[in-house]
Amino acid sequence: MEHAELKTQPTVYLETYGCQMNIADSELITGILRRAGYISAARPEDADVILLNTCAIREHAEERALGRLADLARLKHRRPAIRLGLLGCMAQHNRARLVEKAPYLDLVAGPDSYRRLPEFLGQAGFDPIVDVRLDRGETYAGLGADHAGGPRAYVTVMRGCDRFCAFCVVPYVRGRERSVPPEAVIEECRALAAGGVREVVLLGQTVNAYRHGAVDFGRLLTMVAAIDGIGRIRFTSPHPCDMTPSVIAAMAAESKVQPYLHLPVQSGSDRMLAAMERGYSVGQYLELVERLRRAIPGLALSTDIIVGFHGEEENDFEATMALMREVGFDSAFTFKYSVRENTRAYRLGDSVSEPEKARRLSAVIELQESLSMARNQAQVGKVLDVLVEGPARRGAGMLSGKSPHFKTAVFPGTPNIIAGDTVPVRIVSASSHSLVGVPAI
Ligand code: 5AD
Ligand code: SF4
Repeated sequence: MEHAELKTQPTVYLETYGCQMNIADSELITGILRRAGYISAARPEDADVILLNTCAIREHAEERALGRLADLARLKHRRPAIRLGLLGCMAQHNRARLVEKAPYLDLVAGPDSYRRLPEFLGQAGFDPIVDVRLDRGETYAGLGADHAGGPRAYVTVMRGCDRFCAFCVVPYVRGRERSVPPEAVIEECRALAAGGVREVVLLGQTVNAYRHGAVDFGRLLTMVAAIDGIGRIRFTSPHPCDMTPSVIAAMAAESKVQPYLHLPVQSGSDRMLAAMERGYSVGQYLELVERLRRAIPGLALSTDIIVGFHGEEENDFEATMALMREVGFDSAFTFKYSVRENTRAYRLGDSVSEPEKARRLSAVIELQESLSMARNQAQVGKVLDVLVEGPARRGAGMLSGKSPHFKTAVFPGTPNIIAGDTVPVRIVSASSHSLVGVPAI
């Protein structure tokens, strides 16, 4: 009986790779498919439809997804009725070529095709469906994502990127910039607040380039800050060139906007920044950091760093290390340069050898560990408001949450503290990755 019931409602298993944007897109896809009658399955073995939402930012990300796809193909071989789909940036990047490489795929759909997923999955065809049209108008505004739960939720406010950094595939796979109407953003945040969400993270590939009519990103921050129930606001990822006075003023004026910013720098060498077509110099970046720190005292900063970009010499790399020290980032995401087809840098080449990239990567990671340690140690003795997410991984009755600086803080729980509470915590020790404290109530 239960089995018959399952058959009337198809089940879908969705696995997500890549950035926060993809995680948010998967919540959107889950919402679209749920409304079309699909039930989520926890394991691929239990699903009628298996979807991978993929990333194309580096070759390694694509290799991982292809490896996983090969596993799932074996499952489909045993149970041919399974429909197997590849979604997201890699679908867009590789297009029809994927169907040749992976003939067992039933569906290849890019980031602007999710509205039509129920239709595609409903078509019982023999040939695979490939839909990778980019749609300048698609923002999925008002469609409603299925929030995964917890006190923090991610809200997509803009999609696409017009910056075309020389190394980056994003503008090609996600298309042009477009912003969600502010009313739709506000409505989504209100609904999330009503459902118990306390912190929203506004998302976009160049989130601070947000513009809808007269509403720029600074104005949007102010509008979201006016929503009752939302206690904290963050956003990611901004581009340094779009860090306008309006955005900085809103960050400074709105106490709900948390004093933390992820500000990707990529390199500390002017020569590399020019080759990367980032649109700023080291001096301009440092000047921006100074303006931000003046406007928002105690601001925590994280960044993205690429080592081994084509043409990077030892002195360019040293300049990156010097910049990291000078800014004193709280944390950094560090990457080896990965050549991507279609990008402007594709035809330049890949002059830094793999072992040399690996050496430079280890060096920036090691440096960042010590910088993070120093920044975290500076929190010891302070009382910080921690938004509680739930039990800490280390167990033993410890709870875990985030400080205003987006640092993980753990502390012993008490029966009256639950997820979603904001608790003042006195920090007693720190490592390069987290803070440990005790409730200061
Ligand atoms: N190789 C390595 N890292 C890259 N990133 C983007 N494209 C590449 C690439 N081709 C990094 C950048 C970006 C982050 C999301 O990924 O640092 O900010
Ligand atoms: Fe890629 Fe540059 Fe756009 Fe960021 S701003 S998504 S690095 S092209």
